[in-house]
Amino acid sequence: MDLKDHIRTIPDFPKPGILFYDISTLLMHPQAWRTTVERLGEVIAPYKPDLLVGIESRGFLTAAPLALHLDLGFFMVRKRGKLPGDTLSYSYGLEYGSDTIEIQADAVQPGQRVVVLDDLLATGGTMAAAVHLLQRAGAEVCAAACIVELNFLGGRDKLPVPAHSLLTYDA
Ligand code: PRP
Ligand code: MG
Repeated sequence: MDLKDHIRTIPDFPKPGILFYDISTLLMHPQAWRTTVERLGEVIAPYKPDLLVGIESRGFLTAAPLALHLDLGFFMVRKRGKLPGDTLSYSYGLEYGSDTIEIQADAVQPGQRVVVLDDLLATGGTMAAAVHLLQRAGAEVCAAACIVELNFLGGRDKLPVPAHSLLTYDA
């Protein structure tokens, strides 16, 4: 099955000149979505992670079913102020301004092996921030993985861990 047949592109979203890669159509197709999760599983299982991590919000859609499929626990990297209790945070620069992401302080024990998931790797800023936060928390970040990678933006070069994607686009 060619999963690219189930990714819809929408021009000029969220800004003029940007081509948006939409996984909504993939999610709407159970067989294609199951295949997506299974293929991610084949890539991730060899790392033998203790836990999976999903990045808010579309990373949750990616990581949660994969965690069930691999019989692993899962926790969330969320935008600032969304998680209760003690948290660890990491701030990173954007084109304009900055953003802060958080995990719950007890989500991961030092030395635990984690793989971090998102739907899409573009500039890599989001994924790199999540990896740095998890490393600061003491996790051993084995890999980062996503469904769609926009090669031409060079996001994987920002990542200090191996990166995997199921589908790559050159423009
Ligand atoms: C999108 C996408 C990735 C990120 C990729 O999320 O889901 O998380 O951007 O971009 P980057 O590699 O340039 O950082 P978005 O911030 O739009 O939020 P959402 O997942 O909540 O829709
Ligand atoms: Mg996202």
